[in-house]
Amino acid sequence: MDFRTWMKVTQDNCEEALSEFIPQSDIAPRRLHEAMRYAALDGGKRVRPLLVFAAGQLFNAPDELLRRAAVAVEMIHAYSLVHDDMPCMDDDALRRGKPTVHVKYDEATALLVGDALQSQAFIVLSEGNGDALTKLAMVRLLAQASGSVGMCGGQAIDLASVGLALSRDQLEQMHRLKTGALLRASVLLGAMSGKTLTATEVAALNVYSAAIGLAFQVVDDILDATADSATLGKTAGKDAADNKPTYVSLLGLTASKELATQLCNDAHQALVPFGTQAHYLHDLADLIVQRQA
Ligand code: IPE
Ligand code: IPE
Ligand code: MG
Ligand code: MG
Ligand code: MG
Repeated sequence: MDFRTWMKVTQDNCEEALSEFIPQSDIAPRRLHEAMRYAALDGGKRVRPLLVFAAGQLFNAPDELLRRAAVAVEMIHAYSLVHDDMPCMDDDALRRGKPTVHVKYDEATALLVGDALQSQAFIVLSEGNGDALTKLAMVRLLAQASGSVGMCGGQAIDLASVGLALSRDQLEQMHRLKTGALLRASVLLGAMSGKTLTATEVAALNVYSAAIGLAFQVVDDILDATADSATLGKTAGKDAADNKPTYVSLLGLTASKELATQLCNDAHQALVPFGTQAHYLHDLADLIVQRQA
C-alpha cells in the first residue's frame, strides 16, 4: 500500500477504534462522555497512532494489539491537549479547528475529560488479547512517557520557563520530555506489539524516536511562528505572545528549519538496519518535518 493510502486507512481505523473505546455519550455521566468524545474524535493528524502502526508493521504485529496501543497513546495525547489549553496553562480557545473543551464546556469538565481520558488509555491497553507480561511492560512504558519524567515533566518545565532565556540544552530537554517522550512510546509500543525487542532493535528505534521527537516540537515551534490559525486549527503566534522559549526564539527560523531537516536525516539513518520494511517509519519522519499544520 502506498504511504498516502496507508495513512488514510490507519487514520480511519484509529477514529473507529477511538469511537469504540470511549464510552458513548448516552452512557452516564453523559456530559462527561460527550466532552471526552468531543476532545478525542474527529480531528488531529493522528501522528502517534500512525507511528504505532508503522513500527508494528516492521515486526508483523497483530492488528488488535496495535489498535489498542494506538488508541491508548492518542487518548493520552488528547488529554494533554485539553489540559495544555486550559487557562492555568496556555489559555487557548481554539484546538483542532474547534473551541477548546473548557470554552465549549467549562474548566472543571476539561480537567475531568483529561483525567478520564488518561484512565481510559490504561484500561484499553491492559484489556484484550495478548501476553500479560508484554501488556504490563506496555502499560509501564506509556505511564513513564506520560508522567513526571515524560510529558507532564516537560509541561512543568515549559510553564516554569515563560520569559526565561533557556540554554539550547535546557530547551532540548524540555522538548524531549513534553513531546518526544510520547512519540518514543508510540514507536516502542508498536514494535513491542510484534515481538520481544532485542537491545540492538531498541537502540535503533530510540535513535529514530529521539530524532523525530525533537523534530516534531521544533516544527511545532516553527509553525506557531509562520502559519495562520485557520491552517493550524489552533491559535498561531501564541508562543511569542506568551513569551515562551522556543527553537524559533533561540535559533531563529532559518536555523530551526535546518535543524529539523538534519533531524529528519538522522531519523532516516537510524532505520537503515531495518531495510525497506521500515518504509512507513521513513515516510513518517518526512511527514513530521514537512507538514504544514
Ligand atoms: C500538538 O500535537 C501538541 C504538541 C505535542 C506539539 P499535534 O500537532 O500532534 O496535534 P494534533 O493531534 O494533530 O491535533
Ligand atoms: C504542548 O506543547 C505539548 C503537550 C504536551 C500538549 P504546545 O503548547 O506547544 O502545543 P500546542 O502548540 O498548544 O499544540
Ligand atoms: Mg503548552
Ligand atoms: Mg499550547
Ligand atoms: Mg506549540
